[in-house]
Amino acid sequence: MSSEYRTHPVDAESEERLTAQDLRYGILDNGDAEAFRGWLHADSRGFHDSRPTQQAVDAQQKGLEYRRALGVWDDASPDPVVPVATVASWPAQLTVPGETSVTGWAISSVTVAPTHRRKGVARALLEGELRTAHDLGLPLAMLTVSEATIYGRFGFAPAAMAATWKIDTRRAGWSGPRPDGRVRFLSLDQLSEQRAELLERARLSVPGEIEHWDYLWHRMLGAAHEGKDNGKDLHAVRYDDADGVAQGFALYRFTEQDQEFASHVLDLHYLLAVTDDAYAGLWRYLLEMDLVRQVHAPLRSVDEPVAWQITDQRAARKSNEGDHLWVRILDAKAALEGRRYRAPGRIGLRVTDPLGFVEGDVLVEIGADGAASVSPLKGEAPDGVAELALSAADLGALYLGGVSAGTLVRAGRVTELRPGSADVLDGSFRSPVTPWLSIWF
Ligand SMILES: CC(C)(COP(=O)(O)OP(=O)(O)OC[C@H]1O[C@@H](n2cnc3c(N)ncnc32)[C@H](O)[C@@H]1OP(=O)(O)O)[C@@H](O)C(=O)NCCC(=O)NCCS
Repeated sequence: MSSEYRTHPVDAESEERLTAQDLRYGILDNGDAEAFRGWLHADSRGFHDSRPTQQAVDAQQKGLEYRRALGVWDDASPDPVVPVATVASWPAQLTVPGETSVTGWAISSVTVAPTHRRKGVARALLEGELRTAHDLGLPLAMLTVSEATIYGRFGFAPAAMAATWKIDTRRAGWSGPRPDGRVRFLSLDQLSEQRAELLERARLSVPGEIEHWDYLWHRMLGAAHEGKDNGKDLHAVRYDDADGVAQGFALYRFTEQDQEFASHVLDLHYLLAVTDDAYAGLWRYLLEMDLVRQVHAPLRSVDEPVAWQITDQRAARKSNEGDHLWVRILDAKAALEGRRYRAPGRIGLRVTDPLGFVEGDVLVEIGADGAASVSPLKGEAPDGVAELALSAADLGALYLGGVSAGTLVRAGRVTELRPGSADVLDGSFRSPVTPWLSIWF
């Protein structure tokens, strides 16, 4: 996609609503250092974070240049360079079932100053983002959320979950494969150079993953911080297969320890495996580490194979399991044709959408090759076609194949218009790999 999205005019409807409140809605000029500082300050303040240092401002002004950053300014405020609301968005590849990807509108930095809350500013921003993404021809929008109560009203729903795993290393006992490859330390600079290629090779293997950006890794490796979190205590290892080809890496630090230094907690920041062997090799390395009592692994898949690679399954505890990536379908045809399906089928979907983007009835026809063709469904569905009624948000939940239509029917969210339709949908839509997103954005 060209960079036209950065200068695409702000949404006229939202602009009108904000102007009526004497607020100015506009695109941040990323090249204006003072304006950028003000915007970043508002973004950090929105999440109760400290004021960004000049180093952070400089790094982000450059590192996040590709984003379309919008602000809402109140020119009557004592410090008018700091906006009272922020949002940033950019087109990013989202992995979908079938080891392929679609371009989604990633939305981040949604903040409204506490001085301007609950006056409809976030609604204007969010609806503006959705209309902009739709105008740009993108099939869906996506975000990760601070609170699970905010975005359902805009037609988003959780489509990929995440969980924290805590594994008691002294109980676990490795029973998984013992591949021939080697685990080797590498410097953070080396990881910084090599991670993009490894991430790219793994990107299409798990639905729900989105394209990473360089600044994210700059920060993950501690380079964006002065003093605290500066990366000094991070350790990086790489897994090389028997032929010496790099197939994964892990990034971790030690957090707690007892007085005898024999009982550390290993905090896993990131583990990437291109192959199953790399996955087994890296997890075995972590779980068999001396002087460690627990591996603490936040933001992992809810369905980690490592739970089946240890002798005592009760040594692995999952917590914080819940929504992580939220998806909002904006174009049913493009989104549904963009992914692959595990079985052929013909499914009629009658979709309601208060914001209008995907309101209407469509027929999804999935061929033996797992590709779908989506057309308008006019009148009665043909005989033998499964048929369901659902909201735009439910379509978002089902999209990556991690949520079951049967469950949503039992929850009273999706309605089967013909008996057995949820089963047909699940037979085609469910992803063989549980959707997961490994980062926040
Ligand atoms: C969340 C936040 C952006 C909302 O901004 P706002 O301008 O007060 O929201 P609006 O007035 O536009 O409210 C829009 C709707 O969302 C609801 N809403 C707003 N904040 C909510 C919250 N925290 N929880 C649940 N519902 C919320 C409102 O009740 C309103 O509902 P309705 O239109 O259906 O009646 C703002 O409170 C904020 O910046 N919070 C801190 C940062 C944050 O959490 N950002 C979200 C990052 S994912």
